[in-house]
Amino acid sequence: PLVGVLNGPNLNLLGTRQPEIYGRATLADIESRCRELGAELGLGVECVQSNHEGELVDAIQEWRGRAAGFVVNAAAYTHTSVALRDALLATGLPFVEVHLTNVHAREDFRHRSYLADIATAVIAGCGPHGYEFALRHLASKVAPTIT
Ligand code: DQA
Repeated sequence: PLVGVLNGPNLNLLGTRQPEIYGRATLADIESRCRELGAELGLGVECVQSNHEGELVDAIQEWRGRAAGFVVNAAAYTHTSVALRDALLATGLPFVEVHLTNVHAREDFRHRSYLADIATAVIAGCGPHGYEFALRHLASKVAPTIT
């Protein structure tokens, strides 16, 4: 099975973006770890990052019919985007919402998610490990023979 790993705006700057908040790992580090773990779990992993809402919608649409589920860190669009919510709903596929930081311990506007109530699971505050936990969870749903 194929899993899409989607990262939203400003996550291309990981490693240098407010490292005291977001840590030192780069997006390339996170994506290569996802591919490596995916291989162990029997999952193909395709990674997309964009700073543009419409491009994220296009990526989700493009995965329809090919992917078995998603790991989604929509970054700031988490808190604003009906379009991403609708695109994910249209796939009918399971996804895990991931945030590097504990959004609930931050500003009020980060407490609201347009995705959380339609997500299979939500992981926040585990840093880059959150992506690994999300992949393991998806593997248990879509590749149930591998633990
Ligand atoms: C984030 C949290 C969001 O509130 C923020 O806009 C981000 C990153 C996280 O991974 O912690 O860009 O999704």
